[in-house]
Amino acid sequence: MSIESRPEPPAGTEWVFLATTNRDLEAVAIDEIEALTGADATVTHPGMVRFTADIAAVYTLHARARSLHRIMLELVRTPFETLDDLTALIGRLAIPAYLGSEQSFAVRAKRRGEHSFGSPDVERELGQAIIDRYRSQGQPRPAVDLDDPDLIFRIIVRGNTVTVAIDATGQRSLHRRWYRVREHEASLRPTIAYAMCQYAGYQPGDRLLDPMCGCGTIPIEAALTSLDLSPTLNHDPALTAFQFLDPQRYHQLQRDTDSGTRPAVTGLDIDDGAVEATRANAREADILDSITVSTEDATVIDIETDVVVTDLPFGIRTNTELRVLYDAFFENLQAGSWERAVVHTAREELVPIEISETIPMRRGRLETSILVIE
Ligand SMILES: C[S@@+](CC[C@H](N)C(=O)[O-])C[C@H]1O[C@@H](n2cnc3c(N)ncnc32)[C@H](O)[C@@H]1O
Repeated sequence: MSIESRPEPPAGTEWVFLATTNRDLEAVAIDEIEALTGADATVTHPGMVRFTADIAAVYTLHARARSLHRIMLELVRTPFETLDDLTALIGRLAIPAYLGSEQSFAVRAKRRGEHSFGSPDVERELGQAIIDRYRSQGQPRPAVDLDDPDLIFRIIVRGNTVTVAIDATGQRSLHRRWYRVREHEASLRPTIAYAMCQYAGYQPGDRLLDPMCGCGTIPIEAALTSLDLSPTLNHDPALTAFQFLDPQRYHQLQRDTDSGTRPAVTGLDIDDGAVEATRANAREADILDSITVSTEDATVIDIETDVVVTDLPFGIRTNTELRVLYDAFFENLQAGSWERAVVHTAREELVPIEISETIPMRRGRLETSILVIE
């Protein structure tokens, strides 16, 4: 078995990173990683990208990335045949350099392909192999904590290749933003909202209108981008407890913010409750005074802006009602003045105007798409 592993946690040398994002939106993540770190990422499989960068990227991406869910440090990627090969692999990694004896850990495995074992077998066997590393050296062993571990080892088995990585983000995915104090029943993932703004070509300071804003995800993500404020304030990622990383470097980046451009962002919704939720979330994000929010009907407003970015209703109404709404909204949109519109919907067939680009997406079992209209 050929193994390329890191014997010691290096300072200032390059690491291999894995990052997860929304499947089908990897291109947005790749662009953002390049902009923030200069690294050239490639897709390993749907929803995951891989790149090489200085360890500084782990701090930068946790504090600044708007499209990523989880960032991991790859320890080894290698072909394997049996479960015993996987266990043997642990014996060759410098595990005690990453995980202190007094810390707790969990092993989480994801498996794809034909194997004679399941993910729970991988988790159990590799967890034991990690403990054995400490026992064999007469050291106290770290505790297993499946609910709230200090450090999560991620084992990704795809066909005959295994990857072992340390999850630097931890339990809470980066898309769970702190400002979401009020949820909409159909609220959009903030990382998808950011991706839609990118497809719209949104630049800091541009006028952006979301005429059906629900709890405000798109306007809030756009405003945070414009102001260059961190999207992950109060997040406390796992890396801040790692013995081989420096939490100050992360906290410093969280403080060095708010040097951006004043946004010109508007969020509207026909429902007073949604408008209230947008205000509550924007207040929590500390940007309420930077955006305009009000109750309006998107089918009758005057649309004059640089970009329109919106997440259309698609689930709750009857087909007839939806068709009437889509017809009225797009007719009104066409009467307006704007450069680019980007909409998210599961009902592309109801969109009555010409579409320049379609990005098909899968959200759980639902097939949706992001449509770009020029
Ligand atoms: C899919 S939700 C938007 C969710 C939002 N992106 C979020 O993250 O919370 C669609 C929204 O469109 C609003 N809506 C429906 N018809 C509307 C209309 N004619 N004018 C304005 N808003 C409308 C609904 O009230 C709902 O909040």
